Amino acid sequence: MTTTPCVGLGINCNAMIGNDIAYAAELLRSGQLVAIPTETVYGLAANALNEAAVAHIFEVKNRPYFDPLIVHLPQANLLDQYAADISAQARLLAQAFMPGPLTLLLPKQSVIPDLVTAGSALCAFRVPLHPIAQALLQNLGFPLAAPSANPFGYISPTTAAHVMQQLGDKIPYILDGGPCQVGLESTIVGFEGKQAVVYRKGGLPVEQIEALIGPLQVRPHSASNPLAPGMLQSHYAPRIPLLWGNLEELLAAHAHEQPAILAFRQKKTGLPPEYQEVLSPTGDLAEAARNLFAAMRRLDASGASLILAERLPEQGLGRAINDRLRRAAATRSPE
Ligand code: TXA
Ligand code: MG
Repeated sequence: MTTTPCVGLGINCNAMIGNDIAYAAELLRSGQLVAIPTETVYGLAANALNEAAVAHIFEVKNRPYFDPLIVHLPQANLLDQYAADISAQARLLAQAFMPGPLTLLLPKQSVIPDLVTAGSALCAFRVPLHPIAQALLQNLGFPLAAPSANPFGYISPTTAAHVMQQLGDKIPYILDGGPCQVGLESTIVGFEGKQAVVYRKGGLPVEQIEALIGPLQVRPHSASNPLAPGMLQSHYAPRIPLLWGNLEELLAAHAHEQPAILAFRQKKTGLPPEYQEVLSPTGDLAEAARNLFAAMRRLDASGASLILAERLPEQGLGRAINDRLRRAAATRSPE
């Protein structure tokens, strides 16, 4: 078994980190939880058909039971075993973007426990592209329920070490697949009648979906609308306050507070470089997405008392990045 004990990391934990897919499968078969890599973010996985195992996910994450989980399948053609009434539009999307950073909300079959969907008749389905997630799911023969592997409300993990830092004392094993290549959670798409609706902007740009099926509705985020709890404003928040907008204006108002800076392309001169993170020096939005959550975590731990985050271009993955920053800013604004 190629595992590494977590001793020496300076963290209080019981978990092992490794790349042993057979061991992860054995744990999952016996109803235990395993953190798994996907191309979007790391997930906290359990057998989706085992209610006790699924209940354990909610406990470990400290997640309210009204917030449903995504069901992960090895391939899109298994949707027919777990979902019902799959429309032609949904099939088109599945064919084009599964595997990949797309989650589809579809009516569920009764084999999916109500606990997974928080009592909803709809279930969220996703087919991860990451080769380790793929190999694991193909080995298992049952789907995996997996939310992002972070405590409820905090920033999603994009490395095995992120998972270890926050959940290492609560789970037996973290399957290490390296840093996530997309770095943002999946884009969630559902259907209201024949209209496709984006409930969460994510790693698949809205424009790519529209190129295939025409104009989408994008639901505005609302703290008072729990329809898709991923829409709650209070997600993705660092522990210190984060303000989001035009960096020059934010700096003019907050320079005296010695803020940390989350910049798109370049650091600000005249401010300590160690309190600054750049998402992509070349202005590449995919690179910015890949770096976003790790950069937020570093700034959160930097010792600064607040983070000033730059608004990115509102296009492609920039829209999903702005969405995360807007919601991080919505929670803990300074008094
Ligand atoms: O990229 C991702 O989607 C990652 C990886 C691990 O697959 N997963 C993820 O899961 O981000 P989670 O639980 O952190 O976010 C899923 C969001 C939640 O906000 C949840 O409310 C929403 O999807 N969701 C899940 N099932 C739903 C359902 N049946 N109806 C409405 N919303 C649902
Ligand atoms: Mg999450």
